[in-house]
Amino acid sequence: MTSKELREKYLEFFKGKEHAVIASASLIPENDPTVLFTTAGMHPLVPYLLGEKHPAGKRLVDFQKCIRTGDIDEVGDDWHLTFFEMLGNWSLNDYWKRESLGWSLEFLTSERWLNILKEKLAVSVFAGDSDAPFDQESYDIWKDLGIPEEKIYKYEKSENWWGPAGQTGPCGPDSEIFYITDKEPCGSDCQPSCSCGRYVEIWNNVFMEYYKDENGIFQKADQRNVDTGMGLERTVAILNKLPDIYSCPHIEPIVEEVNVLRDYKNLGMEGVLGNDMYGKKDSVDYEKNKKAIRVIVDHIRAATFILGDERGIEPSNVDQGYVLRRLIRRAVRFGRQLGIQGVFTFKIAEVVIRIMGETYPELQKNKDFIVNQLVQEEEKFALTLEKGLKEFQKMSADNLISGKEAFILFSTYGFPFEMTAELAKEKGVEINKQEFDEEFKKHQELSRAGAEQKFKGGLADASEQTCKLHTATHLLQSALKKVLGEHVQQKGSNITVERLRFDFTHPEKMSDEQLKQVENLVNDWIRQNVEVKCEELPYETAKERGATGLFTDKYGEVVKVYSIGDVSCEMCGGPHATRTGELGHFRIIKEEAISAGVRRIKAVLE
Ligand code: SER
Repeated sequence: MTSKELREKYLEFFKGKEHAVIASASLIPENDPTVLFTTAGMHPLVPYLLGEKHPAGKRLVDFQKCIRTGDIDEVGDDWHLTFFEMLGNWSLNDYWKRESLGWSLEFLTSERWLNILKEKLAVSVFAGDSDAPFDQESYDIWKDLGIPEEKIYKYEKSENWWGPAGQTGPCGPDSEIFYITDKEPCGSDCQPSCSCGRYVEIWNNVFMEYYKDENGIFQKADQRNVDTGMGLERTVAILNKLPDIYSCPHIEPIVEEVNVLRDYKNLGMEGVLGNDMYGKKDSVDYEKNKKAIRVIVDHIRAATFILGDERGIEPSNVDQGYVLRRLIRRAVRFGRQLGIQGVFTFKIAEVVIRIMGETYPELQKNKDFIVNQLVQEEEKFALTLEKGLKEFQKMSADNLISGKEAFILFSTYGFPFEMTAELAKEKGVEINKQEFDEEFKKHQELSRAGAEQKFKGGLADASEQTCKLHTATHLLQSALKKVLGEHVQQKGSNITVERLRFDFTHPEKMSDEQLKQVENLVNDWIRQNVEVKCEELPYETAKERGATGLFTDKYGEVVKVYSIGDVSCEMCGGPHATRTGELGHFRIIKEEAISAGVRRIKAVLE
């Protein structure tokens, strides 16, 4: 079965259970300061999990592009990727555990659908602790569904609980489904929680029935949601009886491209076994270089999707741009190790675009941008990579890379810290991260520790203050259009309880006068105490009315449109204030460039 067939089957199955199909959202979350990337299908749905009404209804299904850098060290094994697709279905205060688990099993095992043998599955449920009891209900449902008790494992929170990663928010026990591969057990206690590779998690059913409050107490939530996520690549591999995800029909051609790019002559290997042996599965060469080959495949696939996203990001030293830089540069380093010469990552991206472009048309649309950015980033890095590696050798002679040295590698040679740390690990030398962080802070860049926090995931905040800042963002966009012109387009938005951040297209620095005019306009609209109205409209109608929004025509049939008098009309998930008068005083605290032709404004409500 191909990935395309699996996506189609999944959507069709859940449509048959009255789910509305919604489109894959951007990889770059909007208005969610807790994560840098969409790490699971639930991220774009956060407002609805918190109680907002979704225009498409209470039962949703989709496939979602996701990035998880938490697993980056495991990339190279048989089952982990940083970019992956997640098939998901949701109940927003609608069906509950019996339907959810029953449908998962039906889809996996029924002859009409995936036809996986029930004997090849094991499941896990939450064991219970002082915060919440054992999930007896799921346990009993699995038994009723014919899963033998010895294959129902009970695990604690670290394995069987989802969210909130932040301080507060909806969360609950989950129940995971594992495929038992033909790999031999690693010992007498081999089970789903061990990482030997015999058990592969393919699907997670999360039951969000709790709310963690400010005191850390897990309260029963007002709204009960189901959030399920199934790994597309893993399932395709299993259905095709493949040994790993890199052998999937939509990934293997990328592996082949990496092998084509390798220069065997240069490695002095030509003629030893015959070129065609190299890189072939099961060959000595493939086994030896598997990790490097797979890292390149995974990282450039992820980089292609980040660059090609609707909210495309450029490599930089902060936030998503930093992750992107890390992925590209790590791939380049492994490329050199494999003997690949010259600028090469764009060639791999071209294969990714060819394979994935039909399902994700944004890749086709942004092909030039993807290729240009990869070439630029690689050329930049190639200038310093060799010298940096030599410098690293010298620095590590005393078996220690100090924070200062790591910082020199970062600032002069462009080595992301994680790359230096990896080199240090390979060579068995120590590295002083704390000192590096201090150096980094001294240079007034974003601390990596801070950035890593954002990977952990979590549910966005829907407090009164963030609602106000959402509304202020709409006013700001309208004011910018009035003062600067209609060319102003939103490129990104991010809201925390303290401030809003808004990125938009504009070719030059704004003057002090323009900034003042924008502030005055927004404050005038606040004083007028205009009502904020929310309507659910067919997408086409919303477009006809001139509603602005970042959503593409993939967003779904019915969309939410927030209008503020005749000041603003935007497609947006919300939530918002009810009247502008609630907002207080609007003040811009910073205006700066973030890339060519894109400006960023940070503003507060006081
Ligand atoms: N949020 C859950 C996960 O990512 C289920 O979708 O595993």
